[in-house]
Amino acid sequence: MLQETITKEAPARRWDDFLVPQCWESFTAEDHSVWDLLFARQVELLGTRLVSEFLDGIDLLRLSHPGIPEVAELNAVLEPRTGWRVVAVPGLVPDDIFFDMLSKRVFPVGNFIRTREQLDYLEAPDCFHDLFGHIPMLAHHDFAEMVEHVGRLGLAAIAAGEGHRVARIYWHSVEFGLALERGELKILGSGLASSFGEAHFSLESDEVERLPFCVERAVNTPYRHDAFQPRYLVSSSLEQTVADVLALTPERLLAI
Ligand SMILES: [Fe+2]
Repeated sequence: MLQETITKEAPARRWDDFLVPQCWESFTAEDHSVWDLLFARQVELLGTRLVSEFLDGIDLLRLSHPGIPEVAELNAVLEPRTGWRVVAVPGLVPDDIFFDMLSKRVFPVGNFIRTREQLDYLEAPDCFHDLFGHIPMLAHHDFAEMVEHVGRLGLAAIAAGEGHRVARIYWHSVEFGLALERGELKILGSGLASSFGEAHFSLESDEVERLPFCVERAVNTPYRHDAFQPRYLVSSSLEQTVADVLALTPERLLAI
C-alpha cells in the first residue's frame, strides 16, 4: 500500500499580508512634534526648490496641518483624486511585494517616525519620508499613472531576474530625481524632498554629476543606498519623464 504523502507548501505571499494598522492614536506628543519640526524645516528649506506639482500636492493633502497625518484622512482626499491609497506597513517590504503594491496604486507607509536624535539619519524609511516625500506627487494624475506603470514594469523585471533595471528607474526618478522647471533646477524625488542634508547637496554641491534623465541612462546608472548619490539624473521636464517611462515596455526595459 502506498503511503499517503502530504506535502505542505508555504502559502504564496500576498501584498496585503504585509499591512498593519497605522495605530495613529499610538503616536506620542513627541512623535507629532518631530513631524512638525521635520515639516517646518523641509518647507523652509525647499519652499521654492520643489517642483510646483509637489507643492500643489502638499496643499491638496493639507500636510501642513500640525502632527503626523492619519492615513484614513489622506486617503479620503487621495483616492477619489487619482485612485492611489496609502497603507501602513511595519518597515521595508520585499521588492516583489512593493512593485505589486505600486501596480495596484497602493503605497506602503512606515507606521513609525524617527526620533529627535535621528533627524538626519534613517536606517529604514519612516512615515515622514513616506508621507511627506511620496504622497504629494501621487496626487498628480500623470505622475500617479507613471508610478503604477513602474509597478507593472517591476513585476515583469523581477520575474525575468532583472529587478535592478526597474529599481534604477524608480530610484533616479521617484526617489532621487531632479527636474528642470522653467530652466531652474528643482527637486522631484521623495528621498531628496524628505532629506535636509541631501536636498541641499543635490542642488548645490560641485562634487556631483548631474546628467539628463533618460530611461537608458537610468537603467545603466547604479545608485547608493548608504550615502549621498554621486550623480543625479535631471528630467528636462516632469512631463517628459512621465512620457518616457510610460512608453517603456517590459520587453524594451529588458533589452536596454
Ligand atoms: Fe521612498
